[in-house]
Amino acid sequence: MNRCYDIHCHIMPGVDDGSPDEETSLAMMQCAAREGITDIILTPHQKPGIRCVSPEGTIRRTERMQKLAEENDLPLTFYPGCELFYRREVEKLIDAGDILTMCGTDYMLTEFYPDEEYRYIREAFDSLLGIGLIPILAHLERFPAVFESRDHLDELTSMGVFFQVNTGSVTGAYGWNTKRLCRRLLKEKSISLLGTDAHRAQGSRAPMMAECVRWIEKKVGPDYAGLLTLENPQRLVRGERMLMPGQEL
Ligand SMILES: [Fe+2]
Repeated sequence: MNRCYDIHCHIMPGVDDGSPDEETSLAMMQCAAREGITDIILTPHQKPGIRCVSPEGTIRRTERMQKLAEENDLPLTFYPGCELFYRREVEKLIDAGDILTMCGTDYMLTEFYPDEEYRYIREAFDSLLGIGLIPILAHLERFPAVFESRDHLDELTSMGVFFQVNTGSVTGAYGWNTKRLCRRLLKEKSISLLGTDAHRAQGSRAPMMAECVRWIEKKVGPDYAGLLTLENPQRLVRGERMLMPGQEL
């Protein structure tokens, strides 16, 4: 069986607005396994104004999730990560070791307010790159300041920023406009990673992957589907350079 990575998932229980308890986490794991997902990066929110799980807490809970999967014969491998809500003091927190990167590598899954201005987003990425991090913009489809301009997409890409879209956005869980946008971005090969951004075991926020991957395989090609679900995530987990949009395998 081919491996398939979900690099953005709120399956860790009791740490954010994702899974509230282990029972829900287990149901999410069962759903993920049915969807063909084999590897999951756990990305609890790192946001201002709310109590956030510490890096040590994330690592400890990742081990607990691994044990839970093994006890239930689920072929899943978990990695610790986070979804960083960017704010200006973030560099200090990273320096102090208060924020975990993706799997302890230089990659940082990053989000903003949906109506954030492009200049602020570009400066934030400049700042993260300046301290040696490689930003991944979480669910690009939520940030019109970025996706509405080809120049902005190109500028961030040339700076070294990677883009992730949510699988549910590609299959229509968030409306027709978002689906059309994501499908266009995928056809243009502007996207480097996929995530379910799952928060629950059922409904539109469940860890759904298969339908999205099938669409990419059919409409864009199996090589690109492999880049998004396997090649780039493996590079991410190992801390190796991911392929930028347009770079072929
Ligand atoms: Fe998320």
